[in-house]
Amino acid sequence: MDILNQEYVKGFIRLMTDGSNRGWHERNGGNLSYRLTLNEAEIIKANTTPDSNWFSIGTTVPELCEEMFLITGTGKFFKNAAEYPEETIGIIEIDSKGENYRILWGFLNGGRPTSELPTHLMNHEVKKKWTNNRHRVIYHAHTTNIISLTFILPQTDEVFTRQLWDMMPECPVVFPEGLGVIEWMVPGGEEIGMKTSKMMEEYNIVIWSNHGTFCSEETFDFTFGLMDTVEKAAEMLIKVLSINPNKQPVMTSDQLRALGSKYNVSINPKFLK
Ligand code: 13P
Ligand code: ZN
Repeated sequence: MDILNQEYVKGFIRLMTDGSNRGWHERNGGNLSYRLTLNEAEIIKANTTPDSNWFSIGTTVPELCEEMFLITGTGKFFKNAAEYPEETIGIIEIDSKGENYRILWGFLNGGRPTSELPTHLMNHEVKKKWTNNRHRVIYHAHTTNIISLTFILPQTDEVFTRQLWDMMPECPVVFPEGLGVIEWMVPGGEEIGMKTSKMMEEYNIVIWSNHGTFCSEETFDFTFGLMDTVEKAAEMLIKVLSINPNKQPVMTSDQLRALGSKYNVSINPKFLK
């Protein structure tokens, strides 16, 4: 059984390549994780020998006990995923307490999961519960225009949501719940993970000021599509703001409500007046 031929592994690597081609993954910037289905996990269990060492996750994720994740390695470059997958990514299993992980496949030559492992797993835990097991992909990218916007706009959920919804009708349809913005924090730990995962109870997108974007979705296509939509809207917003720094949201709350009912999505009422 060739793990590299599994559909989810191919989809994972394709997303990494697409993200790299967009310019969101300079050097080792960004990380990605996928929660395996029970069937996919059974196949891995039957075809791998676990590493004998358990490592601390750096937080506790009791809802993810014995789950498996395909995840990017710390310090690894997205651009290398297709050519050197077994060095760049790996599959881990969580222990029965949700405190430690061990490596089942990949991470050749001493690799380890991303330094953002706590945030990824805390987000998975929230999304598994709040989406009734549907969401499986968590993606972090250093999205050029979103990051730039955090230096220009007030860092509030409302300002970012209303200004980005404004850019094209797809925006309120693709992220009707809006998005969250977190002030600058030290990356790679439990504290930023707790703050991000709390916001993931409400949103599928959380922006880390002066750093990047986290998003969550069901499939690789939906996840990449969500990141791409938000980042494209941010690019347009930067262009508009560079000519008119006083731009205010143009779409009215009534127009947003009308869009929501036409496309059968529930626009987050807290952003409507
Ligand atoms: P890793 O190489 O540990 O995944 O870190 C990259 C990153 O973007 C940290 O936020
Ligand atoms: Zn980052």
